Amino acid sequence: GAFEQPRAVAEAIQPHIDLSNFTVAMSGVGFDTKKVFGEIERIFIVACGSSYYTALVGEYMIERLARIPVECDIASEFRYRYPVFPKNSLLISISQSGETADTLAAVRLAKAAGVKVLSICNVRNSSIDREADGHLYMNAGTEVGVASTKAFSATLALLNLLSLATAQAKGKLTVIEEADYVRQLQAAPAQIETVLNLDKFFKKAASTLKEFKGFLYLGRNVHYPIALEGALKLKELAYMHAEGYAAGEMKHGPLALIDKNMAVVMLAPRDELFEKSLSNLEEAKARGGQVISIGTGANARLEQISNHYLVLPEAGWFTLP
Ligand code: M6R
Repeated sequence: GAFEQPRAVAEAIQPHIDLSNFTVAMSGVGFDTKKVFGEIERIFIVACGSSYYTALVGEYMIERLARIPVECDIASEFRYRYPVFPKNSLLISISQSGETADTLAAVRLAKAAGVKVLSICNVRNSSIDREADGHLYMNAGTEVGVASTKAFSATLALLNLLSLATAQAKGKLTVIEEADYVRQLQAAPAQIETVLNLDKFFKKAASTLKEFKGFLYLGRNVHYPIALEGALKLKELAYMHAEGYAAGEMKHGPLALIDKNMAVVMLAPRDELFEKSLSNLEEAKARGGQVISIGTGANARLEQISNHYLVLPEAGWFTLP
């Protein structure tokens, strides 16, 4: 359930960090991560559904910190698209269950091409877990609900660690930066707890929003895949129509749909892209759209333009997703 997320995230990271010096020490992966990550020149990440959205967040993290090119694919597309694997490629599969047929097929395709596979999985000894060369476990506990929640958050935490471990192996991370990121990650479970305790906000917002005909979830950078996931969750749990978009794409079509029956859910933390997101909201508002925004800290301008403003604990791009 949703309220297990703080524990799930804590248990996902716990085996892989050394709290005596705040470093990442990938353990039990099944291959020498320093050596493998040091050698790889290209990463493919394959997954389906929510797991695919975590892959997209992983792409932002790994490229930003480790400077290794990352390509994400929906497994059902990847397996049929005759992918090209340059030398020194690594394929990362993400699957909570470890049984998703398309993801398993993508893993087999990579293995047949001689590509090393690292699996991020929740279920030990599942089909994908058994076929992979390396293993990272979500340690999220049994996912009972169909809508993935704690496995999603635990996966993001593992991708945080993976981005640090690859950056470390590539010599792109100073000891000080590494310790700072590890501290941020260590702080995440308590921050998730804080957000879950805002259920009053959610109840109030939900009661005014249930009449809408549609929802447009928007975000930029690491928050873009989170917007996709938000829209998916609303479809899956509330049976309402929702679409996720990169905020910059709003003006390239979906703007036409915005009117008083449409709610725009904007992920707008205070970062270098904040002004751009704010101007998206101004356009949405001008067309009569309802605005729900999610940001960090007191933010008078965001609050003023929003029908509902949810304030997250202060955190940076690394852990906000
Ligand atoms: O077990 P998997 O992670 O491979 O499952 C992939 C998707 O079916 C899954 O993420 C699905 O989209 C979520 N449960 C939706 O909440």
